[in-house]
Amino acid sequence: MLFTTVSNSDEIRQILALQAQNISNVLSAEAIESQGFLTVRHDPDVLRRMNEAYPSVIAKDGEILAGYALVMPREFASDIPVLLPLFEMLEHLSWRGKLLRDTPRWFVMGQVCVAAGYRGQGVFDGMYMKMKESCRADYDFTVTEVAERNKRSLRAHERAGFQTLHTYPDDLTGEVWRVIVLDFDR
Ligand SMILES: CC(C)(COP(=O)(O)OP(=O)(O)OC[C@H]1O[C@@H](n2cnc3c(N)ncnc32)[C@H](O)[C@@H]1OP(=O)(O)O)[C@@H](O)C(=O)NCCC(=O)NCCS
Repeated sequence: MLFTTVSNSDEIRQILALQAQNISNVLSAEAIESQGFLTVRHDPDVLRRMNEAYPSVIAKDGEILAGYALVMPREFASDIPVLLPLFEMLEHLSWRGKLLRDTPRWFVMGQVCVAAGYRGQGVFDGMYMKMKESCRADYDFTVTEVAERNKRSLRAHERAGFQTLHTYPDDLTGEVWRVIVLDFDR
């Protein structure tokens, strides 16, 4: 398995294809329960620009995309309207005693997915190890949010070293979200 960063448009196309297979509305209730699910679909142009600004992490088995973890610099907040409330909330949260809005060296991990045939094989941990290595020079930590309902993802993030920063209910979707942080220097 090769853990690397996005370097061409075909990899972006593969990310969008894997994303489409894992959006909650195409999954059965059983798959959601046991395998997890995605909520956000990215506009191809926004995803391309995000990767030009800072490359996301991918896992490749030859030419096959086994997984991805998206790096979403804060300037992209307004490009993905459904994530705007998250960014607004993050402004008011603190990590290690400092308000996030006063701390420049972090980004939002925009979405993580491992292809069905590659789950449970260390791809998830490998991608976050690669992310630490590729982002450490520019960022101290990353923030993301996981639905409480996504038990598999919560467990995997906890094992990879993420810590809980905040939990809140989203009345619009009925989801309870857990905001979690991964330090890159620990
Ligand atoms: C979530 C996802 C990225 C995790 O990658 P993965 O390769 O499946 O993760 P791993 O198998 O390494 O780790 C899963 C952990 O959850 C545990 N687990 C599996 N199913 C579970 C469930 N239904 N409830 C609780 N824990 C569960 C596993 O035992 C493992 O924990 P362990 O290492 O302590 O044994 C992947 O399953 C996926 O892409 N799912 C669909 C999309 C998704 O949910 N993305 C995340 C959005 S926040």
